[in-house]
Parts: sequence; C-alpha cells; structure tokens
Amino acid sequence: MKGCQNECPAGGCTGGAAKQVTESFKAADLIINPATTFKEKPDPSGLVFGTVFTDNMLTVEWSLTSGWEKPYIRPLENLSLHPASSSFHYALELFEGMKAYRGVDGKIRLFRPTLNMDRMVRSAAQATLPCFDKEELLECIRKLVEVEKEWVPYSTSASLYIRPTLIGTEPSLGIKKPTKALLYVILSPVGPYFASGSFNPISLWADPKYVRAWKGGTGDCKLGGNYGSSVYAQQEAMELGCQQVLWLYGEDHQITEVGTMNLFLYWENEDGEEELATPPLDGIILPGVTRQSILELARKWGEFKVSERYITMSDLTAALEENRVKEMFGAGTACVVCPISKILYKGKNLHIPTMENGPQLATRFLNQLTDIQVRDSLLWYDNNNEKGEIEGMNGFSVTGSRN
Ligand SMILES: Cc1ncc(COP(=O)(O)O)c(C=O)c1O
Repeated sequence: MKGCQNECPAGGCTGGAAKQVTESFKAADLIINPATTFKEKPDPSGLVFGTVFTDNMLTVEWSLTSGWEKPYIRPLENLSLHPASSSFHYALELFEGMKAYRGVDGKIRLFRPTLNMDRMVRSAAQATLPCFDKEELLECIRKLVEVEKEWVPYSTSASLYIRPTLIGTEPSLGIKKPTKALLYVILSPVGPYFASGSFNPISLWADPKYVRAWKGGTGDCKLGGNYGSSVYAQQEAMELGCQQVLWLYGEDHQITEVGTMNLFLYWENEDGEEELATPPLDGIILPGVTRQSILELARKWGEFKVSERYITMSDLTAALEENRVKEMFGAGTACVVCPISKILYKGKNLHIPTMENGPQLATRFLNQLTDIQVRDSLLWYDNNNEKGEIEGMNGFSVTGSRN
C-alpha cells in the first residue's frame, strides 16, 4: 500500500486499512492516568510464569470508522467485550513476548525490541488486524515500563515480561476482517527460568502425528491460534513423561521447533564439519529474536560453520549413532537457551549428550546474551580472548539510573 511504512505483505493493508497505517496512534498523545493503589510486589524467585501482573496497562482502541484512538496508561482491569467479539470465536488475535531487564548499573533495558515490533506488525497483517507505527508503540511501551519501573525485579536473573496483544473486537458473528480492535500491553514480573541457577535439561517427545505449522499457514506469525492448538500435543507429551514437544514436519520428519522455542543443533555434520544448524525461515518457523541473535553472534565469532538448513530425524539418529552430536538446545526469550537431553521418538529414548559436552556452546550463548541484557556489554570474546563489538545488539534503555 502506498505510504505504508510497516512492510505489510501484499493485501495486508488495503482498502479500509489505509487509514490505519497512516493514522497510527502517537506516543505524544499518551494519556497517563495511573493506579493510585498499589499491589505488593512479589519475591521473583517464587513466581509462576505469567500469574502476577503489575498495577497498570496500556490500551489503544481502533475502529474502521475512526482509526486509532489515543493511547492510555491506566490501572490494569478486566476488559468488557461483546460476546460475539471476533477474537473469541475465530482467534483473530496476536501477541508478542519480550522482557525488560534491570542492569547491574540500575538502568532498565529492553533487548532488541524493534525486532518484536517488526514481528508484531507482520502478525497484525496476517490476522487482518490494523497496522500501526512500530516506533510509536515501542515508545508507549517504554513509557509503560517507566511508570512500572519498580516492578522490574532488582535482580539480574529475573525480569519484567512484556506482553503486547492485539485482538479483534468486531461485535458480530461472520468470518471477516474486524472493523474494531483493541491493542493492549500488560506486564508480569518473572523469576529466573532455571530456578536452581544452573541449566536443567529438558526431554522432548517427537511424533509426526501432530503438526505445529505448515507451508501456507501462520506458523511464522505469533497468532494465538497457533498456540491454543498446540496444547493438546503438549499434554500428551507430558503424559508420556516428556516436558516439551519436538515439532516434526513432512514425510521425512524434519525437525522444526521445540515447544515455543527455536531449535539449534551443534554437531559434526555429514561432511565432517563443525556446524551450528537451525531450520531455515521457510514459513513454518517463528523468526525468534533469540534465534537471530544466536546466529549473528556465531557468525561474528567465525569459529565454526553456521547454517540455516533442514535437519531430519534420520540425520539426527545417524549422527547420534556416530557420536557426532555435541549439543542440542532450544532458544527463546523465556530461557535464552534451554539444553535438550532426551528425545522420545518411535517408542525409543534417544539420549542427546548436551550436558556431557558442557554444554559449552549453550553456556557461552547464555552468558553472552545475558551480558548484553543486564550489563549492556557490546563486547564479545573469541577463543583467543580477543574483543570485538556487536552492532545493533545493545540494550534499548528505558530508564536512567535508579532514582
Ligand atoms: C513458536 C515459537 N518459536 C520460537 C520462539 C522464540 O522467539 P523469541 O526468541 O523471539 O522469544 C517463540 C517465542 O516467542 C515461539 O512462540
């Protein structure tokens, strides 16, 4: 669409949507009416993910006739929606997941939030929900986190999870592009992913009978429907004694993602090369911010081959038999990296020697990315302890020093 700065795919921003793009809400119009009573802040070490929310939320309403209203920061409260709302019936809904970290210097930073904004706008186009200006939303989120800065845990192992959400509020049945929508952002303090302070490896269940995403589908966007429909398989994995699903695809059982994380295999490949491999972004993989950061770091180090390539279960089983697998791990905002130690496949438990191998590489990524998140360190070290700089990966500062 002419004038659209949001890289919406063809057809994503046409017709009535023209107004949505050019008339994005503006952070400068933000109305801030914050809560005057405050909840007690919990000890982050005992938190269950996503169960405690801060005092305030951001809301912005949209309608086809009036475009975007002014953004509001106001006390967190229940929503009042028409029971026919399209998000309830047809899952016209999308979300993002990112975190605010309190650094060792007292500053609060977001990690590469523009990548989340890019993904959110792509998801909005896919869900036929209205586009908006990514920078304006990021500035509104920055203000919300600033209002709630005391909720960002005073800890380098805990953080404030940020959940931007966009839902269709079309108050009528009939499957169509919504004429009403609500964008909101809620915040939830989260504790350390690995409560023990060290890596806990996970076990996976791989069965081709369930598919997370498919070519021509919506797996590369963060639409609620992708996740609701995955819970059934996740439940079966747990009944079989595994923690997460290893999602396979196609006749050849390609390895795609693990639970809600991207997947990495560090191995000696078929040609005897040391390689870090992850499946390519071919439409069925969610383009993770952590995935992209890991690939960029590894390419910068230049110490081994880094590939976005297909890996099948038979590639993996052959490599396991030949002792060529070093580490396998999931990657995502929640845990940064999560080692994998076992895969239940075709009734057999495959042991993955991630922990026996350190895990050296997973630990290095965890330390490097945590350093960027809480120390704003732009430095990386190669094997010879030489320093280098990473461009475009520095923390996005939300606040200045503590008070
Ligand atoms: C399906 C899926 N894959 C991968 C990821 C990891 O993405 P990110 O690194 O942006 O958190 C997520 C989490 O959002 C996800 O839901």
